[in-house]
Amino acid sequence: MRRRDFVTAAGAAGLALWTRGLFEGAAAESHSSIPFGAAVNDGPLQTDAAYQKALIEHCHLVVGEGGLKWADLRPSPSQYVYDQPDRLITFAEANGMKMRGHTLAWYAAMPDWALQLKGEAETSRELMTHIETVVGRYKGRIPSWDVVNEALSDDGPRVGLRESVWSSSLGEYYIDLAFHTARAADPNAQLVINDYGLEAATAKSSARRRAMLDLLRRLRDRDVPVQALGFQAHLPGNEEIDKDEVSRFVSDVKDLGLDVLVTELDVIDDQLPADFKERDAIAAKRVGALLGAILDVTRPTAVLTWGITDRYTWVPIWYKRSDGYANRPLPLDENYREKPMMRTIKQAVAGA
Ligand code: XIL
Repeated sequence: MRRRDFVTAAGAAGLALWTRGLFEGAAAESHSSIPFGAAVNDGPLQTDAAYQKALIEHCHLVVGEGGLKWADLRPSPSQYVYDQPDRLITFAEANGMKMRGHTLAWYAAMPDWALQLKGEAETSRELMTHIETVVGRYKGRIPSWDVVNEALSDDGPRVGLRESVWSSSLGEYYIDLAFHTARAADPNAQLVINDYGLEAATAKSSARRRAMLDLLRRLRDRDVPVQALGFQAHLPGNEEIDKDEVSRFVSDVKDLGLDVLVTELDVIDDQLPADFKERDAIAAKRVGALLGAILDVTRPTAVLTWGITDRYTWVPIWYKRSDGYANRPLPLDENYREKPMMRTIKQAVAGA
């Protein structure tokens, strides 16, 4: 379904159903499609009319690729630079979309000064002030936040807590602190813990699912206000999705009282065949397998891709192809034509 049809069908109020509380109460309202959205790159948002048009046509939701990351927002301890998120939320609201917030506590995209934070008192004070200020500023306007991003480590077979300026002073407790502070700053926002590498049929991915589940159990036992798990879903194109295990994992996550959503979907295609048709078909198959594995158990509260068009994607920063062909990780090609992946996503979000 195109967004325009969706808006007509469900009415503008339908978009608000996405927020957790409203969503639950409104189950009878036969609003069956899952909100779809994409991460937005601030540069072309300002210069490329075709890009804006594609976002308006396809998305109910947007999220900044950057902008709310510490490195962008906090060039110095006293500064909060809201230019990018303000530009995006203005665009979103003018076009009947909602904006998600990404992200409040991450190891990466940190300004140098913040990497110098030391000790429990200073580190927790800075984390709390940041979250109170930023979540508070957009209270009631940003209905869903990636509060903690990439909490799990990725440096060997044992998956533990990722090293960061936050974990080195506060241990796992930084997660508790971030969620409690976000909850106090906006009692109605959906608070999400977001991570990658949870989908594949590999030993590593299986260890990450187990580690995430253990972490979520500990957070639940400590009454930490997490509402949902975000699957980043940067899917390695050369790895099968473990459909059964992902379904089982989603069902375990639901049993803990949490929702799930897909926050950064794309297919890392550096190892896939050069041929476009073949490559696009494999990418769509991976996406279909992941969304199917989730939908077999529950309805994700949202599905977002990390970009809308192959023209603007982060993938070549880390996963450039060695044959010189451009990456094709996203639902629209570089000329905004729909690829098989887009049809797969539309079917999945419409049919729930
Ligand atoms: C990426 C952005 O897309 C790039 O523009 C930026 O240079 C680096 O970060 N996981 C995340 C995102 O949670 O924040 C990352 O975004 C991609 C991987």
